[in-house]
Amino acid sequence: MPPLKRILSQARIRRRVRELAAQLRADYGEQRPVLVGCLKGAFVFLADLVRQVGVPLQVDFIMVSSYGMGTTSKGEITVLKDVTTDLTGRHVVFVDDIIDSGLTLQRVREHLLSRGPASVRVCALLARERVLAEGAAIDYLGFPVPEGFVVGYGIDYAEDYRQLPDIYVLEGEG
Ligand code: PRP
Repeated sequence: MPPLKRILSQARIRRRVRELAAQLRADYGEQRPVLVGCLKGAFVFLADLVRQVGVPLQVDFIMVSSYGMGTTSKGEITVLKDVTTDLTGRHVVFVDDIIDSGLTLQRVREHLLSRGPASVRVCALLARERVLAEGAAIDYLGFPVPEGFVVGYGIDYAEDYRQLPDIYVLEGEG
């Protein structure tokens, strides 16, 4: 296993999640938004977030696989598990653990918008500084992160490390 360097402690994550939850509470009030978590990585973040929001909300999940830009499928995604909630007229918040290239965000947003919601906003725990500099529309952001393989708090490397309470970068990778 490559060595891990801790970049975000669980205490720091907890504080930031509480702040994001307070923003959601202020913005949505009693509108009962649908928080759509992106499997698998967002499961820890979403679980912590929803318990801090403190207003009525609904939870659903989506699971996609992406092929990446520049491959045969030119940046398309496949929906492996779709939301089951009727999103017509609903306020939707897409919740993801990390926005890396931005492809998943872009395609899932299009997918969710095609369901006729009243609004779609994005809540990401982490986003690459590069993607933020390109102007990615992330309404609620936990932390910007530099390049490097990030693991922990739901995020994996070859399906390992999701269970770690802190967030690390794998040294000597990526
Ligand atoms: C990760 C992450 C995002 C996506 C971001 O998921 O959870 O959903 O990649 O990458 P992008 O911005 O380049 O599209 P992954 O495909 O690793 O699946 P997982 O959540 O099951 O680990």
